[in-house]
Amino acid sequence: MSKHRQVFFFNSTRTVNEMLAVTFYFLLLSGVGCLHLEQVLIFSRHNIRVSFSNHIDEYTNKIFPKWSKEPGLLTEKGALLEGYMGEYLTKWVIENQLLPGTCPDTETVLVYANNTERTIATAKAFVDAAFPDCNINVNYEKDLKKYDLTFNYYIHNTTESYKRKVVEEIEEMLAKYKLTDAYEELDKIIDIKHSKKCEREGFCDLVHDKNIILYHIGEELELNGPLTIGNEVVDNFIMSYYDGRPLEEVAWGEITSPEQWKVLTKITAMDEQIRFNIPSAVKDTARPTIRYIRSIFTNENIKFALLVGHDVNLNLITNALGFNPFVLKEQYEPYPVGGKIIFQKWKDVAGDYYLKVEYVYLSWDQIRDGVKINFQNPPLRVTLGIKDCAIDKNGLCPWNDFMKLINKY
Ligand SMILES: *[C@@H]1O[C@H](CO)[C@@H](O)[C@H](O)[C@H]1NC(C)=O
Ligand SMILES: *[C@@H]1O[C@H](CO)[C@@H](O)[C@H](O)[C@H]1NC(C)=O
Repeated sequence: MSKHRQVFFFNSTRTVNEMLAVTFYFLLLSGVGCLHLEQVLIFSRHNIRVSFSNHIDEYTNKIFPKWSKEPGLLTEKGALLEGYMGEYLTKWVIENQLLPGTCPDTETVLVYANNTERTIATAKAFVDAAFPDCNINVNYEKDLKKYDLTFNYYIHNTTESYKRKVVEEIEEMLAKYKLTDAYEELDKIIDIKHSKKCEREGFCDLVHDKNIILYHIGEELELNGPLTIGNEVVDNFIMSYYDGRPLEEVAWGEITSPEQWKVLTKITAMDEQIRFNIPSAVKDTARPTIRYIRSIFTNENIKFALLVGHDVNLNLITNALGFNPFVLKEQYEPYPVGGKIIFQKWKDVAGDYYLKVEYVYLSWDQIRDGVKINFQNPPLRVTLGIKDCAIDKNGLCPWNDFMKLINKY
């Protein structure tokens, strides 16, 4: 992937060009001429976190570099990047006159995070940069041991027949999608033949081992085996890369080409798919989240909502609501850290309402480079479509069609 840093020189041409660029960009953003932005709901994944390293030392004899924080916590760089995003997005909503340039009325802004450190810290980083000194609260379930339904993904249906169906579908997917090339690449990088796992358990090869489905009714579904192991290790590589470690500390310098990243991150995408995108479980699992989203769309006092959860939440929402398949260019992760799905409610001069949905995220290189985004050097924006809410050339679909979909939950 190419680096695309823009270099500006400090002279008067720059100022003029910059002003033109800014004007053009605002036109582009409002794009749609006489439409007015009425409400925005941002569903975000937390930013860069320390990788979960519970067991990874067993899969290799190589030493993973240490992190300065505990597994799962938001990194300093993650907070910094989230702040940049917060600044960028509030500028955008202010330009579109959804919020005033000063502190917004507190009841018009809702910020809500899952009750885990990385999501709360991400929301705080966003708010501190977006609304400095404005008394905007970050809400979350204060009992940290309590599961907040809005951000969780366990299956609610407790019947045996349902369970059988889900297990069957997972097995089908596992049989259909083979990850041989990714596992071979990873076996080589971690040198699994010399790992503790191989010496003690005879588990010496990701390619030939089987995945075991752990499904306890009323709990989050887990897998045991190569997919989970592979995902844990690749997650460590991804977060190390994002957090800006020297390349010799990312997979011990063994990943040297985009092709290797492409192959390895297939494991991440597959793990997402298998655990969270089970056709007959998607609706059941996504229901609490979608109901919460609906409660915001039906509350006219709220102009700006930010929800901070996890990749699984974004995955479930897009699948449950029937989003068309999309590709996030310049990214290897299916739901990149800090990435946001932005639901926008627009009104035209005739008084009709429309929905536009965009995925706003940083590219693989922007995250690594810690780029400060702004209107000249923006994040990537991809317009998303929904199967049952057909979009026009401006990416808009009738608001009522969308509400019909949401009201099914
Ligand atoms: C939300 O936070 C809870 C509490 O920390 C955690 O157990 C749960 O796994 C989180 N949800 C997701 C989807 O990660
Ligand atoms: C649970 O799943 C079974 C089997 O698919 C279905 O017949 C039943 O209606 C479901 N129950 C609920 C409460 O959704």
